[in-house]
Amino acid sequence: MRLLHGTLLVLACLTISIESVDRNNFKSCAQSGFCKRQRDHNPGEPTYKADFATLKIDNGHLSCQVENVKNSVLFQLDLFLLKDNRLRFRFNELNPLKKRYEVEGVIVDTLEEEKFVVVRKDSELVELKNGLNNKVALYANPLKAEFYIGDYLVASFNSKNLLKFEHLRTKPAPPEPPQENAEAQAEQPVQNESQDSEEPDMWEETYKTHTDSKPNGPQSVGMDISFHDFEHVYGIPQHADKFALRSTAGADPYRLYNLDVFEYEINNGMALYGSIPYILAHNKKFTVGLLWLNAAETWIDVRSNKADKSIFSKVADFITKSNEIPQIDTHWFSESGLIDIYLMLGPKSTDVFRQYGELTGNTPLPPLFSIAYHQCRWNYNDEDDVKNVNAGFEEHQIPMDVIWLDIEHTNDKRYFTWDSIKFPTPDQMMEHLSSFGRKLVTIVDPHIKSDSNYHVYSEAKEKGYFVKDKNGNDLDGWCWPGSSAWPDFLNDEVKNWWSTKFLLENYKGTTLDTYTWNDMNEPSMFNGPEITFPKDAVHLNGFEHRDVHNLYGQNLVKATFLGHMARSNGQRRPFILTRSTFAGSQRYGAVWTGDNTAEWEHLQISIPMCLTFSVTGMSFCGSDVGGFFKNPDSELMIRWYQAAAYQPFFRSHAHIDTKRREPWLFGEEAINLIRDAIHSRYSLIYYWYTLFYFNEKTGKPPMLPIWVEFPEENEFYDVDDQHMVGSAIMVKPITTKGASSVDVKFPGNNEIWYDVKSLRTFQGGSSTTFTDITLATVPVFHRGGSIIPYKFRLRRSTTQMADDPFTLIVCLDKQGLASGHLYFDDGLTFNYNSSKEFVLREFNFSNNKLISKNLEMSSLFKTYAWLERVIIYGIKTEPKKVTLEESGSKSTQLQFSFDSKSNVLLIRKPGVNINTDWSILLD
Ligand code: NOJ
Repeated sequence: MRLLHGTLLVLACLTISIESVDRNNFKSCAQSGFCKRQRDHNPGEPTYKADFATLKIDNGHLSCQVENVKNSVLFQLDLFLLKDNRLRFRFNELNPLKKRYEVEGVIVDTLEEEKFVVVRKDSELVELKNGLNNKVALYANPLKAEFYIGDYLVASFNSKNLLKFEHLRTKPAPPEPPQENAEAQAEQPVQNESQDSEEPDMWEETYKTHTDSKPNGPQSVGMDISFHDFEHVYGIPQHADKFALRSTAGADPYRLYNLDVFEYEINNGMALYGSIPYILAHNKKFTVGLLWLNAAETWIDVRSNKADKSIFSKVADFITKSNEIPQIDTHWFSESGLIDIYLMLGPKSTDVFRQYGELTGNTPLPPLFSIAYHQCRWNYNDEDDVKNVNAGFEEHQIPMDVIWLDIEHTNDKRYFTWDSIKFPTPDQMMEHLSSFGRKLVTIVDPHIKSDSNYHVYSEAKEKGYFVKDKNGNDLDGWCWPGSSAWPDFLNDEVKNWWSTKFLLENYKGTTLDTYTWNDMNEPSMFNGPEITFPKDAVHLNGFEHRDVHNLYGQNLVKATFLGHMARSNGQRRPFILTRSTFAGSQRYGAVWTGDNTAEWEHLQISIPMCLTFSVTGMSFCGSDVGGFFKNPDSELMIRWYQAAAYQPFFRSHAHIDTKRREPWLFGEEAINLIRDAIHSRYSLIYYWYTLFYFNEKTGKPPMLPIWVEFPEENEFYDVDDQHMVGSAIMVKPITTKGASSVDVKFPGNNEIWYDVKSLRTFQGGSSTTFTDITLATVPVFHRGGSIIPYKFRLRRSTTQMADDPFTLIVCLDKQGLASGHLYFDDGLTFNYNSSKEFVLREFNFSNNKLISKNLEMSSLFKTYAWLERVIIYGIKTEPKKVTLEESGSKSTQLQFSFDSKSNVLLIRKPGVNINTDWSILLD
């Protein structure tokens, strides 16, 4: 141990090298025609004017025409007031030359409109109010929309006149050679003054060796959106960046374009694998959310009137206008499609989670095993390897639920097949894993090897299911299998066809214990521009890839989800991991943060990255434990396990060129600490499961920034190295090398926090530096006022835990109160929905009495799990007796012990079935 610490100190002094991405492979804004045009757009005079003579108001829908006064092009504006304090702002050409792409398959809500009252209407201004007294003000000239919560202006659209909607147009003919005689000159068409000026890049754009033919010319859309009285905005994943979005002044805007970025860099707004064009603004009073529903490449500038000031102007500002209202100005631009915005007016974060969840869907309750620990690497080489890894977990008594197989398990990267030498008997391997209660995940990527003897390829080819290139041939590109083609998952027929590939009779060697990993679905194409498809590739109904790029991965995952449903006749809950995401991807499964690196900075960034995914709906998020590239040392490995045990998706994974890193390969101390970390996840697995259940019902994610629980405490608005798990647990993972101390801030002036291990208590509103740090230290705190269900027995997987007894940890707040929930079911099927087979209990402690009550009277689920002990923190005096009362039985005296130093009461063996009504009284 001493030796280890000595070594750590020496290593801590070495500078950590960070591999960096090859930026040459990815465009900057200046290298993208539309990004430049939109970002530089400075209209001078306002350009767009609404014509209120065309105004129509019908139920919750207002519409009118808008004119671009510079070129007379007409637009249609639709404003919908939707149920539950939401609005939709849709802006499109009135008569486009051809249909512009409108995102499909993302909004799942019925979009029921809400009636409103018109409080003012003249030729310049229309003001509407909804039932909650929230107001919309629409100004005609220049066009501007303002949104109020009560009297507070919270958001405005186009208040900076940056609206720029490039209408579809015909390609101008190349200039005629100069005419010689005057007569011929007179016949030349007069230049149409209504045409916008032509700029380079509008009809063709070249990046490196790739030329984008742009058959539809310029068609980008952009607008400014301001958040008034806000200093903090969050969201728009995926970026390897801080949780609170930075100002982009002096840098590129945040980019949303799903890309396979090799060795990504951290702390910048470069595009990564996923794009969720959803932003949240939070201040002491309100949280609001805004979805920019566009699947094309999108960039977002963020400016803050407070943060962007130089120190000098801050001083000046202090003297002159210290009362200036803070404001975040954002500027959004997409390469094609429409402007279609959904605004969630909260007013609280939990309202916004519900409002966005109703719009795009919530994460469905995952199967229990999938929120436990997963063991992956590229690759487990063969069946013996899989068996040995499984045996290693047995031998070292480390819980694990799932083993993963990466691309090498297939017959030469033909998905849905097996390498017959390395995996000759996959069904036996499956049976072996299942006998331990464990599952298997196999990878299924969307690139299909171009090989007419491969049934997936030949069928798709014959049916015309592949994405086409600009000339109408099947798009051919390079990926893991070599020359490949990609099914057009935009097409529902293709989705259905793909789903049949998962039927157990079609995917030989699999069982209902086999689940799926969809990778490379940005889509990654090694020889394409920016490692993806050319934008002029063609999808269903002739839409260009440009229009739908960010949706491709989600449609693959949806097709896979349908496959999982089909193979069990809709009985079993699917589990799918995806790398690419868009708004709504949460409906199909989990996400991970992609190919990170075994470096401390990458461990640190995993927290803000997952917090960002969490608040934007994609709540089942994790990072590759240990880091994908390079080799972590034992300290980094241990710290990563300790942090990831408190993140929603918990999987170790590594690149094929890294050293083996199963938990027992780092020495005795590491084995014990990694086991402890994994065990900490398993002991809380029913707490996590309960959080996921509420996530499905309410949209509130399990992993939360602190400000969600403490919305008024602005010192936590940019904290992203400390987070909540539900509302009862706060974690400050140690993420620095050789840490000898750690600072923890405790939120909530009226709160008490209980250190999980030492039982020390801390007052909310304080902060503490812990100096007694060892490799075993994991700063985790229970919040006073909560009751948390634990299962402490160490088991090999969640399967064996089903009937294990519970311990309830009751943490009293300053008033001596506490409450909490417990949800569970069979962990696998939909019976919890279809026939209400589940347990949902509410626990309350007050007046020295702990009561367990059933929240759903119709619950049919039979469980043998019982209550083994209750531990109460924060009890001031020792009770004389502790009595259990169970409905229908006589009361029983329980054994207990009291520690007056730590004020902890331990109540032994109440012994009741967890799903009965009971109470425990302290006298
Ligand atoms: C890229 C993925 O991000 C990584 O996790 C995986 O191991 C490789 N593809 C190989 O499939």
